[in-house]
Amino acid sequence: MLNFDYQNPTRIIFGQGSTSKLSRSVPPKARVLVLYGGGSVRRNGTLDDVLAALQQDGERHVAEFSGIEPNPTFETLMRAVQQVHEEQIDFLLAVGGGSVIDGTKFVAAAARLPASEDAWSILESRGRVIKDALPFGAVLTLPATGSEMNAGGVVTRAATHDKISFSSRLLYPQFSILDPVRTYTLPARQVANGVVDAFVHTMEQYLTYPVDARVQDRFAEGLLRTLVEIGPDAVARPEDYDTRANLVWSATMALNGLIGAGVPQDWATHMIGHELTALHGIDHGRTLAIVLPAVMEVRREAKRDKLLQYAERVWDIRDGDADARIDAAIARTRSFFESLGVPTRLGDYQLGADAIDPLVAALEKHGMTQLGEKQDITPDVSRQILQAAL
Ligand code: NZQ
Ligand code: ZN
Repeated sequence: MLNFDYQNPTRIIFGQGSTSKLSRSVPPKARVLVLYGGGSVRRNGTLDDVLAALQQDGERHVAEFSGIEPNPTFETLMRAVQQVHEEQIDFLLAVGGGSVIDGTKFVAAAARLPASEDAWSILESRGRVIKDALPFGAVLTLPATGSEMNAGGVVTRAATHDKISFSSRLLYPQFSILDPVRTYTLPARQVANGVVDAFVHTMEQYLTYPVDARVQDRFAEGLLRTLVEIGPDAVARPEDYDTRANLVWSATMALNGLIGAGVPQDWATHMIGHELTALHGIDHGRTLAIVLPAVMEVRREAKRDKLLQYAERVWDIRDGDADARIDAAIARTRSFFESLGVPTRLGDYQLGADAIDPLVAALEKHGMTQLGEKQDITPDVSRQILQAAL
């Protein structure tokens, strides 16, 4: 096992009806900005419940900022930063999915940046310039990203198509409210995207090379098997509480640092996926379903031992020689994504070989030239991965 230093300070308030516990977690005299997306939370009643909970015991000033888009943009978020300053906001509350929570993290950091510093530096430095941040909490409505219990975010500059991730230990939510009932109104496509996202987060902290990290491996395999078990039902039966509860908790556990502590990690699928979203507008989860099977194929020698472990422990594949078992595991992974209604080929998005050069150029522009658990996924290897995804 590798050395690690792990602390996750986010308090999780989980279960049906937990929004009513919001008031005890937000300081009673806070000046709160509630941030949300394009309006789903207004339509499904979540926003009303949140506002009512904030008015219980306390004298809070409560303002709203709406319109944070999927793949939140720097341009929109800077308007929220301005509102924070104008209304002397001292607490942020994100109500939504990964985009709203990530956007709120950016606002929390940008609002406390010295006036002399350009907020874009947060992204340019991938979070290293952050020395202070406003406190914030979250009410999660979409299980997928893990943003509700981690310290990372991804923000896009719309003008230049730069989709950039950042993190800082100052950006853990103070608390997150996880009520599975809040997810019932999600479109099937977003649920499927979320299952894939959580699955791929787990894979990127698991499918590398063995370091005898048995706890982390078994936790990861447990999450993967759970997602395989519940994925189809989560999509087909939106109001099945226990299925959604298991999905929410799987997605949170897949990216809160626990399974990644003490093991090598390979985030190549995400980094290549971000360029697909930035250049072609493909949903985050869908980009991962395109890239991961291709990464498994192209990296099968480097990942051989873990691929065989994955085949046996996640898919119960025990027959045939080693290469046949790896082939079968890759095929099962692909057909799992497809069974959720998530296509796995660039061609499914009308993208052909001519799309590859600009994607590789974007990876180079963003410094993504040494990806993978051994930093040996060069732009040439990324090109092979994209070719395998055609
Ligand atoms: O904007 P509204 O109207 O709220 O609609 C949203 C949005 O259109 C809708 N939605 C959310 N909850 C709903 C709902 N509709 C009905 N009922 C509900 N309960 O779903 C749509 C997608 O929402 P979004 O927040 O964009 O999805 P997701 O949670 O998948 O977040 C994706 C973003 O997170 C980043 C991605 O790159 C992408 O920008 N990620 C963040 C990570 C992190 N912070 O750790 C890690 C991930 O790998 C990922 O990169
Ligand atoms: Zn993701």
